[in-house]
Amino acid sequence: MSLYDRIPNNVDLANDPQLQRALEKWLPNYLAWWHDMGPEGFQSKDVYLRTAVSVEPDGWAHFDFVKMPEYRWGIFLAPGRPGATIGFGDFLGKPAYQEVPGEFRNALRRIIVTQGDTEPASVEQQRRLGATCPSLYDLRNLFQVNVEEGRHLWAMVYILQKFFGRDGREEAEELLQRRSGDADKPRILGAFNQPCDDWLNFYAFTMFTDRDGKYQLASLAESGFEALARTCQFMLTEEAHHMFVGESGLERIVKRTAQLMKQTAHQSDDEVRSAGGIPLSIIQRYINFWYSYSLDLFGGEISSNSADFFAAGLKGRYLEQKKYEDHNAQEGIFTLPVVENGKLADKEVPLRNALNEVLRQEYVKDCERGLARWNKALEEEKVDTRLVLPSTRFHRHQGEYANSWFDIAGNLISSEEFESRKEGWLPGDEERQFVRTLMQPVTQLGKIANWISPPKSGVGGKSFEFEYVRL
Ligand SMILES: [Fe+2]
Ligand SMILES: [Fe+2]
Repeated sequence: MSLYDRIPNNVDLANDPQLQRALEKWLPNYLAWWHDMGPEGFQSKDVYLRTAVSVEPDGWAHFDFVKMPEYRWGIFLAPGRPGATIGFGDFLGKPAYQEVPGEFRNALRRIIVTQGDTEPASVEQQRRLGATCPSLYDLRNLFQVNVEEGRHLWAMVYILQKFFGRDGREEAEELLQRRSGDADKPRILGAFNQPCDDWLNFYAFTMFTDRDGKYQLASLAESGFEALARTCQFMLTEEAHHMFVGESGLERIVKRTAQLMKQTAHQSDDEVRSAGGIPLSIIQRYINFWYSYSLDLFGGEISSNSADFFAAGLKGRYLEQKKYEDHNAQEGIFTLPVVENGKLADKEVPLRNALNEVLRQEYVKDCERGLARWNKALEEEKVDTRLVLPSTRFHRHQGEYANSWFDIAGNLISSEEFESRKEGWLPGDEERQFVRTLMQPVTQLGKIANWISPPKSGVGGKSFEFEYVRL
């Protein structure tokens, strides 16, 4: 089979010698990166994975046993719309960009590189988790997320190589050179340099950080640059599974913790720990940590970039076409609290400058829905404690709230007070250490670790007891 037969695609790769040449140079480097920085161990094992072989409803989730290095990473765009037009901003109604518009070339490149950088970063963050999986089902889900993040990197590399000439090819190489958490060559965004070295981290990451990805992709799926819009539309179908892994994974931990609490005399953290579970207080701290880092990914609350990207028709709002009637957004005013003279005070900004915050608020609503689901699990188990989302001002490293300190409810406090209270809000070394002690691999068929409950159903029509990874 030729190289190009091995790359499922709907971009007519077979008749695109220029793209073939670019990919031919990049592919060995990608595989070397996967080998060095992809999942540690398990590379020679058969894993029950879904592969996209086309964008038709029956083609994007083809299940079979595959060894990860032989996964058929492909290039897929959602079908184009004939006569597509730019759906928002200053060029509303003009023909969609089929090539990169010269005046927005740098902005577009930056958007695509920033998105592309997150994909390999998360694979790097998660690379050691296989060694401590709670079940074969979870191990398979981890690898599914990993190979698809690999494919998302391909998706962005395709656009760089196809539309950005030499700069694009250089950026594609650099995407393989940065490393999550590296002091000299870190990944671009903060959340993607944080360690994700236990499964509680993994589920919180896929719940909160992959969900940021959903909102970024959704706003790029509205883009007037057709190739980007169509690529992101297809990536969203895969992203849904990643968020499912996180949301249901945390729900299963919460449920298990509640069951263990009921078996104890006082439902105390110490008792839950002794019973081999993860206390709700620790789960809450991990939520606070990943939620706050993920909020940063939306960028500054007040941002001239967000206004420029919207004006140019590059990045729209969430469900821009479906949800809004006014695609110009020139008129509105957005009010948000900012820190002024040591106090929070409302500030009015033109809507276009607040679009990062508009997107973030959509994300927050989605996260609240997840929290409600976990709290329902607590209710069903008859445990009174509830999990909460912290204020969007808490523990921020980007935007309006970055250089101030807030408690979990969003009240402005001093840096000294934050320092003295942060142990109660964020996971400390002791808690992380404790969680790691629970992470003992369970790989027997149908078995699951003590700190998490089994899923309601299996994957791809199989039961939980299925041998998802042949060890
Ligand atoms: Fe992704
Ligand atoms: Fe993802």
